Amino acid sequence: SNSAPLSFDIKPNTNPMPETDRLAAFENLGFGTLFTDHMAVIRWSEGKGWHSAEITARAPFPIDPAASVLHYAQEIFEGMKAYRTADGRAVLFRPEENARRFNESARRMAMPDLPEADFLAAVEKLVAIDAKWIPKAEGSSLYLRPFMFASETFLGVRPSKEYIFCVIASPVGPYFKGGAKPVSIWVSQDYTRAAPGGTGAAKCGGNYAASLVAQAEAYAKGCDQVVFLDAAEHKWVEELGGMNVFFVMEDGSIVTPPLGGTILPGITRKSLIALAREEGVTVNEKPYSFDEWKADAASGRLKEAFACGTAAVVAAIGTVKYPQGEFQIGGGETGPLTTRLRDALVGIQRGQSNDRHGWIHVI
Ligand code: PLP
Ligand code: COI
Repeated sequence: SNSAPLSFDIKPNTNPMPETDRLAAFENLGFGTLFTDHMAVIRWSEGKGWHSAEITARAPFPIDPAASVLHYAQEIFEGMKAYRTADGRAVLFRPEENARRFNESARRMAMPDLPEADFLAAVEKLVAIDAKWIPKAEGSSLYLRPFMFASETFLGVRPSKEYIFCVIASPVGPYFKGGAKPVSIWVSQDYTRAAPGGTGAAKCGGNYAASLVAQAEAYAKGCDQVVFLDAAEHKWVEELGGMNVFFVMEDGSIVTPPLGGTILPGITRKSLIALAREEGVTVNEKPYSFDEWKADAASGRLKEAFACGTAAVVAAIGTVKYPQGEFQIGGGETGPLTTRLRDALVGIQRGQSNDRHGWIHVI
């Protein structure tokens, strides 16, 4: 790919959402239904590399019915958030990590690398032009969705020769309808998310398409999220549909499934592991089976469990259901270490605590 940073053509939206409508929409923020005035777009063509970078009015893409993404799902994405700090700065949390993971996903899906500097410039320029869309209320933020898809008009099964990279932005509130209440989890028996050698570690749309029927089953069982077990033995806990999972033991240590190619290497996961270790908490990245989970919950050895991710932040797991029964963790309440880690993370993300790691990126 090209090495010189791309220069962006900035075309402001001449018909932005009226201020009064935007402020009214901010009153009741859900997740992913409201969008800002602009988007960032960069195109890639074989032989030419990345080109035509622009910030422009958010609008539909004209797409040919034979565009390869519509047939073979060559698509990847990222999820990150911009926050408005109390002193008025607009900040991103570890955006370089998203840029790097995006390229890891691209490589797995036989898509071109986007130089990290161009990924970051697209995100920064979009946040800068739509800065008034960053909500200020506690628990709210501007969710950013960078993505790339195969746009060549071609039905052969091979990597596309054209791609569109785009970033859109959505002001969001809490991911779960219950807000900060502990969530309930359904343990999928019939479905797995990713097999060894598959695409589990890539953030590709197909992984989420495959998870939807399991997530629908979770809803049908009255649960907020599905947790997947490994594909080979159907024994080991992997992750949720859109979050990594952590367990807090009686001795104060933490267990979380290791990265082995079948789960997404979460940036929240990595950050919480670092924060916990700095507090002197032992974190074991090791396989944990559903049988151990059940037994540890029954014996009281398991004190807390939580899910984490950009969209969900840190959510305590209160109830676990499976076909033969259900159990609670921590009496169905949010535990003290879950709360402490969430507060430490959110404090850094929102610019309230000292950013000793250099995780905050001011725009
Ligand atoms: N696992 C899956 C399947 C996800 O979709 C996400 C969300 O992006 C995560 C884990 C958490 O990753 P991160 O903390 O980088 O948002
Ligand atoms: C994110 O946390 O950014 C994700 O992509 C997960 C999805 C459930 C929204």
